[in-house]
Amino acid sequence: MDKIKVGLCGLGTVGTGVVRVLADHKERIIHKLGCEVEISKILVNDVNKERDVIIDRKWLTDQPDELVQDDDIDVIVEVMGGVNGTKELLEEALKNKKHIVTANKDLMALHGRELLQLARENHCDILFDASIAGGIPIVRTLVDGLASDHIEKVMGIVNGTTNFIMTKMTDEGLPFDDVLKEAQRLGFAEADPTSDVEGLDAARKMTLLANLAFKMEVNLDDVEVKGITAVTQDDINFAHSLGYTIKLIGIAAMHDQKVEVMVEPTLLPKDHPLANVKNEFNAVYVYGDAVGETMFYGPGAGSLPTATAVVSDLMEIIRNIRLGISGNAYQEPQFKRQIKASEE
Ligand code: NAP
Ligand code: HSE
Repeated sequence: MDKIKVGLCGLGTVGTGVVRVLADHKERIIHKLGCEVEISKILVNDVNKERDVIIDRKWLTDQPDELVQDDDIDVIVEVMGGVNGTKELLEEALKNKKHIVTANKDLMALHGRELLQLARENHCDILFDASIAGGIPIVRTLVDGLASDHIEKVMGIVNGTTNFIMTKMTDEGLPFDDVLKEAQRLGFAEADPTSDVEGLDAARKMTLLANLAFKMEVNLDDVEVKGITAVTQDDINFAHSLGYTIKLIGIAAMHDQKVEVMVEPTLLPKDHPLANVKNEFNAVYVYGDAVGETMFYGPGAGSLPTATAVVSDLMEIIRNIRLGISGNAYQEPQFKRQIKASEE
């Protein structure tokens, strides 16, 4: 039987999940793909660290070249995070004709277009569904599921850490700092959680969603961002007494070929569907001209939910390799740079 070899960059929260999903669902994956998927190298910072997942320690390396220069490796799965260094590693991998799966929204929001262009030039795929809303297949939905429609609005809760914090502050009155620590312990928060609580992580995801939904060039600095650090327990209690709940909401909307994207704490009536999205769960509402209202709900962060998205992307890449149709996953933006509606 054919074997596809994978180089895994990162063995933290998401990376260990990827190892587990590949092991626990091995037979299903072989059955669906008609080939075996083998992790042959794993890039980490510290090869001597104790790991809470079963791996062959000879797979571990701290040398990126052992993955990107290995002719036997077909796909790089990047779940280590970071922008500087990671971008160069992925560029090198693409030039060496390796396909890529990544969960890295920081990198994709800043350099996604360049990487996608390089992927097309090298007839490679780069898929990134895990980078937005964890286990919810929202990229697939926008690119394939709603391909026939004209999307007018995408809105939702796209950061698990802040939703976890707001839920625990609202429902249990727990202090912000304690809940943030718990979100870090559970593996929901970024290495530097400032990007979660200041709304940057959500802004990166909304940038990607806006690009995908509207087929337009939307950049990170087009997004108006406000995080949750200024929201106090008093604000939450006051909102609650009036029948509202506060959530960090991202909105991307298109009006007359112009796009506006923002992330901010928002008052929602308690019976609003997004008000009932709790803990680390995410929900993305999509309004399409023909389909009307749709909503997608699921775990937005965490090891196995995110790993499920990573492995599903890996399987799509392998199907494309076997069908000889790699390099066509995303086309160039249909429309050039837009002016934000608010700049008119
Ligand atoms: P993490 O737990 O901090 O794990 C990072 C892993 O990458 C560690 O194994 C670390 O090695 C390795 N690593 C980091 N920098 C490296 C470098 N320069 N060279 C070699 N190895 C390096 O992070 P994570 O939570 O799994 O997140 C990984 C990525 O997925 C990030 O882009 C994040 O934004 C994204 N993501 C995370 C979640 C989530 O719920 N956590 C959800 C969606 C997307 P050591 O183990 O040796 O330290
Ligand atoms: N830190 C991110 C979050 C991880 O809390 O949503 C998932 O992208």
